[in-house]
Amino acid sequence: MARTTTSWLALLLLVGAATALTRVRRQDDGGEGDDQSIDELCDQRPPDEYFRLSTDGDCRDVVRCDQAGENGITRLASVRCPNGLAFDIERQTCDWRTNVKNCDRVEKPRKVLPILKTDEPVCPEGKLSCGNGECIEKELFCNDKPDCKDESDENACTVETDPNRAPDCDPTQCVLPDCFCSADGTRIPGSIEPNQVPQMITLTFNGAVNVDNIDLYEDVFNGQRNNPNGCQIRGTFFVSHKYTNYSAVQDLHRRGHEIGVFSLTHKDEPNYWTQGSYDDWLAEMAGARLIIERFANITDGSIIGMRAPYLRVGGNKQFEMMADQFFVYDASITAPLGRVPIWPYTLYFRMPHKCNGNAHNCPSRSHPVWEMVMNELDRRDDPTFDESLPGCHMVDSCSNIQTGDQFARLLRHNFNRHFNSNRAPLGLHFHASWLKSKKEFKDELIKFIQEMLERNDVYFVTMLQVIQWMQNPTELTGLRDFQEWKEKCDVKGQPYCSLPNACPLTTRELPGETLRLFTCMECPNNYPWILDPTGDGFSVKK
Ligand SMILES: *[C@@H]1O[C@H](CO)[C@@H](O)[C@H](O)[C@H]1NC(C)=O
Ligand SMILES: *[C@@H]1O[C@H](CO)[C@@H](O)[C@H](O)[C@H]1NC(C)=O
Repeated sequence: MARTTTSWLALLLLVGAATALTRVRRQDDGGEGDDQSIDELCDQRPPDEYFRLSTDGDCRDVVRCDQAGENGITRLASVRCPNGLAFDIERQTCDWRTNVKNCDRVEKPRKVLPILKTDEPVCPEGKLSCGNGECIEKELFCNDKPDCKDESDENACTVETDPNRAPDCDPTQCVLPDCFCSADGTRIPGSIEPNQVPQMITLTFNGAVNVDNIDLYEDVFNGQRNNPNGCQIRGTFFVSHKYTNYSAVQDLHRRGHEIGVFSLTHKDEPNYWTQGSYDDWLAEMAGARLIIERFANITDGSIIGMRAPYLRVGGNKQFEMMADQFFVYDASITAPLGRVPIWPYTLYFRMPHKCNGNAHNCPSRSHPVWEMVMNELDRRDDPTFDESLPGCHMVDSCSNIQTGDQFARLLRHNFNRHFNSNRAPLGLHFHASWLKSKKEFKDELIKFIQEMLERNDVYFVTMLQVIQWMQNPTELTGLRDFQEWKEKCDVKGQPYCSLPNACPLTTRELPGETLRLFTCMECPNNYPWILDPTGDGFSVKK
């Protein structure tokens, strides 16, 4: 829901921006004493930054410095948010008036940048220059703690600018099974010929597992659909805690699906994730794993992957936590739609594509973690004819997909894009509620799966199975005997319990709410939450 609103707002903003140049307001028509000149206003200001000319009015109007005018003259291009909305200076987007807290500010605070690129070194070896010319140790840059007097050491820390960033991919150093990278991210592991690579498809689902979606999962994974090696098709479930039925999660795991974490609170505040501290990520993700392991009785250490809520990647802190806690992969970074899709990669070396979306907080440092990158889907209805459109990462964020026919074309067109190029795994990422919103969506997905399974070169696998294949790249001809994919091949038997406990629980952390925790295990004392993930109570907390 929140995501739909955001993209809708972004769209409105774009529409506004497109018409802006017809409404350019000139401010430089000579000496109106108080007015700043455009040159002053635009000095050192990035061309994509919107700011207000005044704080009077209804907070809908902003401008930016447009340098594309004739004769290199800079002019101000203006944008007005639609009625009822206001422009948020911090987030640089239109939002509901009540959500915008900075109508009293004209611009984003300007940040002083360090002086990293100079013709001659300005500092002794091992040191770099702050914005004010002070020299400090290189290691102190981008360590989340201001060390320069002007604090500029923390202001240039992207994947491109962090002085301590991971090095570019070096294929002689980065070798399987633990490391995989390629210069542009499109290379096939093991240098296998594309026509000998299985087309892997990963179906993933985000959110709570409960009565709203268990039936959907039963329909898609009905136990009758087998990959060419005779094993049942598999999916990956990134589970958030609240409202999850852990006995259903236990059963998904028993049937060979992969369980990953999608956080404990799933807090509806994107910046909480982008700016989260190491401890926030630890409590959210390791806490969520603890809850699942306990209440879904998953004891085999198989919860190794995570996805960030709203795909808001938490930069280096998220990945440092992951390495410390033995999370093997993240599945939250998106790669922009390109001609050839990207294979998953490890983050020992620099990521091979632009940091796309996700509030641009991609990890810049080296981390021993796999990135199961989400390649954006091409959403065009008629790819041979339509103009190019930005891609979409979750299938439900392809907002132009309204009918079953459109969805069916989206699936096949994107399958062909992957299959006919480098056969990078095709990720189809869903919220169950979208698939259930129209019966035809579910029907089309099942039709697509069945059509694919009639071939002998397509496998529906989990994220872990993708990593297993990449660590041991095996040609299609030998794949039927690939041992890593034979585990829990044919699942029989019954769920662990026929009647789960329906524990009615409260927690001091969520005053006034009584929540039901469904589990085959014993009921805890309290509803598990972020300060008390076991539900044992605060008193026993260290
Ligand atoms: C929870 O999941 C189990 C296993 O799928 C199911 O038997 C039970 O009916 C579910 N309970 C609720 C309330 O959804
Ligand atoms: C939990 O898992 C353990 C180990 O796999 C098993 O011995 C035990 O019976 C399970 N308990 C329940 C209630 O499912």
